[in-house]
Amino acid sequence: MKKISFLLSFAFALATQAQPTAKLGVNSIDEVVKAMTLQEKAQFLIGSSITNFNGVGAVVGNTMNLVPGAAGTTVPIPRLGIPSTVLADGPAGLRIAPIRDNDNSTYYCTGFPISTVLASTWNTDLVKKVGEAMGNEVREYGCDVLLAPGMNIHRNPLCGRNFEYYSEDPLIAGKMAAAIVNGVQSQGVGTSIKHFAGNNQETIRTRNDARITQRALREIYLKGFEIAVKEAQPWTVMSSYNKINGTYTQEDYELLTTILRDEWGFKGLVMSDWTGQRNTAAQVHAGNDLMMPGQIEQANEIVAKIKSGELSEADVDACVKRMLQYIMLTPHFKDYKFSNKPDLKAHAAITRNSAAEGMVLLKNNEATLPLTAGLKNIALFGITSYDFIAGGTGSGDVNKAYVVDLQQGLQNAGFGVQPKIKAVYDKFRAYEYEKLQEINKQRGWYLGPLRPEEPVIEESFINFRADDSDLAIITFGRNSGEGNDRRINADFELSDAERALLTNVTRDFHAKGKKVVVILNVGGVIETASWKHLPDAILLAWQAGQEGGNTVADALKGTVNPSGHLPMTFPMDYTDHPSSRNFPAGFVSSWDDEQNATLLKKKDVGFTNYEEDIWVGYRYFNTNKKEVSYPFGYGLSYTTFNYSNADVKKSGNDWKVTVKVTNTGKVAGKEVAQIYIKAAPGEVKKPLCELKAFGKTQLLSPGQSEILTMTIKNSDLASFNEGKSAWVVDAGQYTALIGASVADIRQSVQFAVAKPQITEVHNVLKMKNEMNRMK
Ligand code: BGC
Repeated sequence: MKKISFLLSFAFALATQAQPTAKLGVNSIDEVVKAMTLQEKAQFLIGSSITNFNGVGAVVGNTMNLVPGAAGTTVPIPRLGIPSTVLADGPAGLRIAPIRDNDNSTYYCTGFPISTVLASTWNTDLVKKVGEAMGNEVREYGCDVLLAPGMNIHRNPLCGRNFEYYSEDPLIAGKMAAAIVNGVQSQGVGTSIKHFAGNNQETIRTRNDARITQRALREIYLKGFEIAVKEAQPWTVMSSYNKINGTYTQEDYELLTTILRDEWGFKGLVMSDWTGQRNTAAQVHAGNDLMMPGQIEQANEIVAKIKSGELSEADVDACVKRMLQYIMLTPHFKDYKFSNKPDLKAHAAITRNSAAEGMVLLKNNEATLPLTAGLKNIALFGITSYDFIAGGTGSGDVNKAYVVDLQQGLQNAGFGVQPKIKAVYDKFRAYEYEKLQEINKQRGWYLGPLRPEEPVIEESFINFRADDSDLAIITFGRNSGEGNDRRINADFELSDAERALLTNVTRDFHAKGKKVVVILNVGGVIETASWKHLPDAILLAWQAGQEGGNTVADALKGTVNPSGHLPMTFPMDYTDHPSSRNFPAGFVSSWDDEQNATLLKKKDVGFTNYEEDIWVGYRYFNTNKKEVSYPFGYGLSYTTFNYSNADVKKSGNDWKVTVKVTNTGKVAGKEVAQIYIKAAPGEVKKPLCELKAFGKTQLLSPGQSEILTMTIKNSDLASFNEGKSAWVVDAGQYTALIGASVADIRQSVQFAVAKPQITEVHNVLKMKNEMNRMK
């Protein structure tokens, strides 16, 4: 009622007030701002997406109908030539409703590989191409901004959204995000790099206070965003749900203005994540220009606070100007005639090929893979072999027309699967999904459907199949999504049924001299140390998008030689991660469920101390010589590579590192060369080495070489010194360690930095609480 009466009174106010006019695109932005009433300005900074709120004074129809299923829209002001614009998720491709009322057409989008797959390619050119295809769908389906990429750091393997993010390392996160942004934006539509920042868990995500040291912020949690902003200038940045050191990021002037704009030179718009009402005036003052999805109370608050003097109109105008600058870039402002017919076939091919480069071959004893062509009796176990998981749940999911499962992919590649096993899984799935039907209806799109758990397969059945099959493939699947973190039990770890399946299959098949391959169809890291000795080969397929089954079959067959490398560490055990000491693992968590929130409060959660400081992922494992299951950067190939002739040269303010990579094996393949820098000692303790550049070769035929040249800026060598509030490059000896993973260094070259370089920055985002900081 309150909303309706506001709209009526506002419409009345518009009708009775004498209004100056101007037109965006004809008049200058300053003139348009001048022509806006206070109410118009206030409403313009609030998204128009909440039901019952249909835009300024209800002058237009429901903007949500512009593109059904899109996450949000901005408020139009037709009298000033300002159209509504459409913002839609997400990191694995455009998320809109595939079917519309009274419309026979369909609006499916491509389910591209999840971000973790893209990061595993280490191929920024390829990732940019994926971005181009995503951007094309955004444009051709009538949207203006893709709410992607997600680029928070994989601080802990249990974060439910890691699949939407890239890596435990900020250089990879930054470079991948920049590649996607450049690709998407080349299509004339925008991106929103998210969630800025410190959004590394889903448990009570809308309230959690991430307590992070200034050094860890600068070096780890902000660094990737800094790279993406400087290398790609995204149209927008999405502030996160959480607080950093006591302040909501959406209200944090130091984060959104001092660092993002003043220090990094960000020129675009900041929008909030899809939050309820917060301190609106603080958000405006902080430079959070657009509050999504939008509540009428927020507009009221802006008007009231300007009138009471608690908010300056100059702050509002600054946000309004940035909104107008954004609007002028959009297809809606340019009146672009979208087709609703992107080339889904071509994009499916891009999905298949790009995902293939992100497959990580973890183990391949006695050249188990590639499979012998034409095998007709593959014993295909594991429920996700028949129900492939293309991507995660929540806003990171895509409404795709189909998903190719592995048994289909194998068939397409000329293999045959053992029909008795398929029959067991088909029957089981039909029965379980029927049982889950009601629950799944209630869960809705946000949580995604519950999937049946791995069934217990009788030992005698497995034993028979060891006789009548050629070899066994077992797929283990995992899914997760926003709102919840993953569990340790039966999620990070194998379930009892999975462990039994693996043990029984490997025992019986090996007894008959037949091989066993494990496929991991997962969105994030799982425990591998306790069971990796059992199968002959392990292929980490991740969630490879809608063509998943074809992609995995390409890798199994050897049509594509796997060249993915891990963008994160696979630890021996969950508790080896220092962040496990204060990650809310095992709590019942659900985003805004009050009951759970109370439960959590009782456990005194509401903040997370990032005690491990900068010692995230390999920075911790490698420096402390802690054994891991698979190290950061790791990945096998069907061929082998030799590294030689490493060299480093100064060129202006840059260091140019070159290395020759030669294919020394029998089949063509691509290699990822990684440069880790061991820095000169200084006042602050530094990791043993840190990734500072990487490069990927072209497809090299046997015997063929390529010289990779990688650039490291002198300033990239800096560590953050809190005492000085400065980035410091210490003078002294540096070593470039060049290899195929952080634990597989093949070449090293030294160089000297003659003069220290100290770059002071604002002393902001200080910690407000004591914590036990890891040294
Ligand atoms: C997510 C964002 C997403 C937004 C709009 C939020 O729940 O955290 O990543 O872009 O919804 O769907």
